Amino acid sequence: MQQDARGLALTTDQPEAARAYDAAIASYLGYRTDAARHVEAALAADPGFAMAHLLRGYLAMLAFNRAFVPAAAAALAEARKAEARLTGRERLHLEALEAWTAGRLWRTLHAWEAILAEHPTDVLALRLSHFNYFWLGEVDAMRRSVLHAKPGWAADLPGWGTVLSCEAFAREECGEYREAEAAGRAAVEIDPRDLWGTHAVAHVMEMEGRHRDGIAWLDGLQGHWEGAAAIVHHLWWHCALYHWELGEFDTVLALYDGRFRNPASPLTRAMPDLYIDVQNAAAMLWRLERAGVAVGDRWAELADKAEARAGDTLSAFTQPHWMLALAATGRGDAAGRLVADLAAAGEGEGTLAAIHAAVTGPTAAAALAHRQGDWGRVVDLLWPIRNELWRLGGSHAQRDIFRQMLADAAARAGDRNRLRAVLAEETAGRTLPLTRRRGFAPLAIAA
Ligand SMILES: [Fe+2]
Repeated sequence: MQQDARGLALTTDQPEAARAYDAAIASYLGYRTDAARHVEAALAADPGFAMAHLLRGYLAMLAFNRAFVPAAAAALAEARKAEARLTGRERLHLEALEAWTAGRLWRTLHAWEAILAEHPTDVLALRLSHFNYFWLGEVDAMRRSVLHAKPGWAADLPGWGTVLSCEAFAREECGEYREAEAAGRAAVEIDPRDLWGTHAVAHVMEMEGRHRDGIAWLDGLQGHWEGAAAIVHHLWWHCALYHWELGEFDTVLALYDGRFRNPASPLTRAMPDLYIDVQNAAAMLWRLERAGVAVGDRWAELADKAEARAGDTLSAFTQPHWMLALAATGRGDAAGRLVADLAAAGEGEGTLAAIHAAVTGPTAAAALAHRQGDWGRVVDLLWPIRNELWRLGGSHAQRDIFRQMLADAAARAGDRNRLRAVLAEETAGRTLPLTRRRGFAPLAIAA
């Protein structure tokens, strides 16, 4: 029996396997691109090492890509061979991966929470639950999860920065901006390569309208992003979002092409249809066009990927982004198929089924109707679910475009009552006045 870097028991007798596993966890926490390589090294040292198989499965599931699920299921089957020898904690990880591959996300989260109740320093369970709560929009649970685990930690344990960065982001999504910024800055002080802490502070600045602060914050840290995974695209997207708010559209386009949607870059070529990259790109093109900026043929490569991913509904929040690309390129058949796929998924099994039926499907249909200029239909689709959009997952900053879409359509449809209601809700939900938010300011003035 070995121990991990935080002193938790690992069912392997090979010190080399345990150290490679630690390196894989550190890579995953640090958004490095070599986590899988360390997992393979761990398995080379001990082919029966269950936690390494499970980590391999988790990493596959984190792609939120249907094509990767069989690899996760295969890793699960390998881990199961060692089941009789596993600790209770490791068995719960096995249960979690089994439930995740079956689409039963709450069962998955309950397994991770059961681990954290006994072992708050299981940073893998902590970080995975953080992200899965996030993609379910369950921000209160995300906040509770990390704050319950935190007292079980010590500042000198490897992974402490991740606790702070997860706390920072969870608090930010819950509107606790001062605590969020303090925790995020503390994480970045420990390690300026802490990209999740960097990201949490960027969100605070976005939500508070501190666009110049945000640009300076990211600019000051970008020297530490070399060799990191696709999270850096998302950080550049945040930078572009500040510039969009400031009306600096040439800079937005330069960042789009050079920093967060360059199909020729090695990171993008490694995974050209990664969910977060697609969200970044589609949401920014939509914002640019809404601001009257011509975006050329940039939609086309996104629409190609959307068509290739037809039927893959594992990432709820990505679906309406796929639709933005299909609609912008006039691909009516593929757009219709996406709506049909979501309707079918809505009648299927698993945690996402109810979300797809109630929220994802109508939001995707609204994205299509908005492109078609069918303003009344956009309002009919989005108005009833406008306060359910959180169920798509994603951040407040990301979901904002669908609230903008509803307000824009209500204005164009001449539906002043609903426009005023949406604007009132936006005013109540944020400290930043509508007149300082590019997505709502012209509507606020007109209303
Ligand atoms: Fe973000």
